[in-house]
Amino acid sequence: MGIKILWYLTAPDGTVPWEPHGRWATGHDHLVQLAQAIDKLGYYGALLATGGDEVNVLASSVLTATKRMKFVAAIYPGLIQPFKLAQIAQTIQRFSGGRLIYNAVNGNDRMLPAQGVHYPHDERYDYSWEYWDAFRQQYAGSSAGYDGKYIKIAPRPNVAAGSTRGGPAQASQGHFPIWGAGTSPAGVAHSVKLLDLYLSFADTPQRLGDKFRRVGAEAAKLGRTLEFGTRLQIIVRETEQEAWDYAQYLVDNTSVEYAIQSIERQLPPGETLESYRSDNPQVQKNLEAIKAGRLPPARDYEIYPNIWTGPALHGFNVLGPLSGTTLVGSAENVAARIREFQAQGVGAFILSGWPLIEEAHRVADLLFPLLDLDHGFEVPVLNPSRRRDVTASLRSAA
Ligand SMILES: Cc1cc2nc3c(=O)[nH]c(=O)nc-3n(C[C@H](O)[C@H](O)[C@H](O)COP(=O)(O)O)c2cc1C
Repeated sequence: MGIKILWYLTAPDGTVPWEPHGRWATGHDHLVQLAQAIDKLGYYGALLATGGDEVNVLASSVLTATKRMKFVAAIYPGLIQPFKLAQIAQTIQRFSGGRLIYNAVNGNDRMLPAQGVHYPHDERYDYSWEYWDAFRQQYAGSSAGYDGKYIKIAPRPNVAAGSTRGGPAQASQGHFPIWGAGTSPAGVAHSVKLLDLYLSFADTPQRLGDKFRRVGAEAAKLGRTLEFGTRLQIIVRETEQEAWDYAQYLVDNTSVEYAIQSIERQLPPGETLESYRSDNPQVQKNLEAIKAGRLPPARDYEIYPNIWTGPALHGFNVLGPLSGTTLVGSAENVAARIREFQAQGVGAFILSGWPLIEEAHRVADLLFPLLDLDHGFEVPVLNPSRRRDVTASLRSAA
């Protein structure tokens, strides 16, 4: 069974977009170009994260510029009524030929109250289950209403056949695909009831595989089977040296302040930068250097061959792998690492590298020919001669 490779369709972009000097002014034209690149290069789809442009609007605005890419759009339950979200989803599915997937994310206590969602962490998942359950029923065309603890929808009155008034205009469009995340016990319990595909930030292949096996076992108790996917940044080049040189360029262009802010967000509750001690000697050494105002060299954040916790837009995970974890290396080595993840049950990889359009091309050019992709269509070969070279080099390495 092959894997799916997705990219990232969200506004921040640039050479080092986590630093003001490396961030570009991006607008709709840029996002259309990015979506077109993702589509043309043959990615399975792209992740649309919260926090930037509204994801349903963004997906809709690039539908006609794209033909086959899927939109994995992150949604916090509760910001849009389930009835209305079902209508939006039905419309996008009809207009796009079924290319919308929702990424059910529940955010964190820091962000949600400021958006009007006041349930505490665990209760947010109880609410979320009802929300998505009601959503799926509305999406499927049910007029029966919903009588939950949190979600109450009255049965829909009969409307004349063909009328578009009174509810989602279409009858059943079948199952709506929901991917999502949640690592806490409440998050896992919610995920195994709801999701088609469970996502986690990356770790070493073995540790990520262990997590997926634990989640898979919980799903099996409910008679459900989940697919699994992960999120990684990527720096792929023809040689290891080039990839690590680029990683070093990113470190050289990152401020100590950015590292400190990222560390502070990652600290366990009750710990401060001064109080925290890591059991991992390399992490502790990196921490000491950063506290002294110096960023250690790129290679000091390699936690496993080709897996790096250096600076990224989604965090500089000095304390351990999280949302900013990056694959770094030659195409052959990165492909080998992806296959290692695949052997641990990972079927979908949501990747990003900066700048997004350039790095999407590099990944398609260097990496796609080395992977067994299952995108549901023939993935174009960007450079047929490279494909022959790589096949030959794999043969000679064997
Ligand atoms: C692949 C992936 C994408 C995510 N995207 C978002 C996002 O767009 N917005 C957001 O607030 N959180 C996002 N999250 C984080 C989740 O909202 C949540 O905070 C995280 O999974 C921790 O859940 P927990 O509190 O149950 O452990 C994402 C997580 C993963 C694994």
